[in-house]
Amino acid sequence: EKVPLKLEVNGKKYKLAVEPRTTLLDLLRENLNLTGTKKGCDYGQCGACTVHIDGQRVNSCLSFAVMHDGKKITTIEGLSEGDKLHPMQEAFVKHDGFQCGYCTPGQIMSAVACVREGHAGSETEIREYMSGNICRCGAYSNIVAAIQEVKN
Ligand code: FES
Repeated sequence: EKVPLKLEVNGKKYKLAVEPRTTLLDLLRENLNLTGTKKGCDYGQCGACTVHIDGQRVNSCLSFAVMHDGKKITTIEGLSEGDKLHPMQEAFVKHDGFQCGYCTPGQIMSAVACVREGHAGSETEIREYMSGNICRCGAYSNIVAAIQEVKN
C-alpha cells in the first residue's frame, strides 16, 4: 500500500504516493526522472547515489523515501543555477576530476558537503571525507585538486 509523502527536491515541491520499500534513490530516478544521481552498488559501498537531505550528505540507496517526509533534497541537478555551473562543477571540469563520469554526481555532492562542513583543510582530511566515494578510473588526485581549489 502506498504512503503519502511530501518532499522538496531542488526547490520544487512534490506530493507523492510511494511504496514504503522504495529507496530515495529509486524515487529520484524512477518517479521524478532525476537520473543525474547514479546507482552503482545499491548497498552503500560506492557513493554514486550521494544527495543532500536538509544539507547533509546521504547515500540515497540506503534510505527509504518515506523516511524523509517534509525534507529538502538536493541532487546534482539542483546545484547549477540555470546555465551557470556550481563552483565545484567548474573545478571538476578544470582539474579533470573524472574520466568515465559515472561516479561524478556523487563525487561532486560529497565534495560540496566536504567544503561546507569544513573538512577540506588538508589533502588527508579531504581524502578521508571523500573515502566513501569510489572512482573506478582512479581520478582521485584530480578530485582532491578540484576540492582544494574551491576551498580556497
Ligand atoms: Fe548507493 Fe553505491 S549506489 S552507495
